[in-house]
Amino acid sequence: TAEEPAAVRMSDLGMKMDLPRPEMFDFHGVTMVHYFTDSWDKVQNFQARPDDILIATYPKAGTTWGSLILDLLYFGKTSPERQTSIPIYDRVPFLEIYIPSVKSGIDQAESLPTTPRIIKTHFPVQFVPKSFWEQNCKMVYVARNAKDNMVSYFHFDRMNMVQPDPGDWNSYFHRFMEGKLVFGSWYDHVNNWWKKKQTYSNIHYMFYEDMIEDTGREIDKLCSFLGLSPSAEEKNQITGGVQFDNMKKNKMANYSTIPVMDFKISPFMRKGKVGDWKNHFTVAQNEEFDEDYKKKMKDLTLQFRTEI
Ligand code: A3P
Repeated sequence: TAEEPAAVRMSDLGMKMDLPRPEMFDFHGVTMVHYFTDSWDKVQNFQARPDDILIATYPKAGTTWGSLILDLLYFGKTSPERQTSIPIYDRVPFLEIYIPSVKSGIDQAESLPTTPRIIKTHFPVQFVPKSFWEQNCKMVYVARNAKDNMVSYFHFDRMNMVQPDPGDWNSYFHRFMEGKLVFGSWYDHVNNWWKKKQTYSNIHYMFYEDMIEDTGREIDKLCSFLGLSPSAEEKNQITGGVQFDNMKKNKMANYSTIPVMDFKISPFMRKGKVGDWKNHFTVAQNEEFDEDYKKKMKDLTLQFRTEI
């Protein structure tokens, strides 16, 4: 249960960890696995602080990219040693994760020595603990077009042992459209976070495709949301440091130190492109997808680019 002491961080475990692939189930109307619901009560009672920053995404939308940008903006200059000694998933804890014998996301967040605390979540907006709203915390949401998001998630589920087995591509493709993947429907996720922005002004909604197109421009927008003004030199350094090839090489950002992923199956930093879906979708799948997409994505103010 969530009460057991779980002392070690993921990065302290060594290279291999045998965990059973979990089953999916319906949890308050959202498809989940127990690794992200076992600490539900603790997560819901989490006490956010006004300066906490939440980075929220549907899985595989660019969470790690956004997390590293945030971490560098806040701590790149003041604690450069952090960049070479602490993996990104320990710098930016994953709020809802609970894996037996590993320090839970909540415990990690509560023991973060930094201000601000940057905390990651994949929760749909309605699952976010209420204290984040009460404290008016800043939230950064990163969204990625559905087709590339699906492809990235498929390869991730193949290599990550704490995710359900993805099965074959065609069945995965249909489960994505049905919203039957971990953290539920992509369509609901991106739409409901988008809608929330209308009533809660402290959400900055970013698009993966925009970040690919012009990382510097998107960092500028992020900085004005956060009220930060890094020097031109600092900004250039960050923009360079978070380019795909550099992150892929960076052991503290590329997840190569995590024990539950098998990079022989697929690396965490896989392609980092817009449009890789074209190498996976058949023509028939693409037609089926587009037709269904139009029915689900009624809010025309939310537009994604599937190529740039
Ligand atoms: P691909 O599988 O398409 O390569 P998350 O961090 O949310 O799990 O998302 C992972 C996806 O973001 C992967 O997509 C990964 O390669 C991509 N990614 C991570 N860092 C990136 C960067 N600096 N530039 C572009 N894509 C990046």
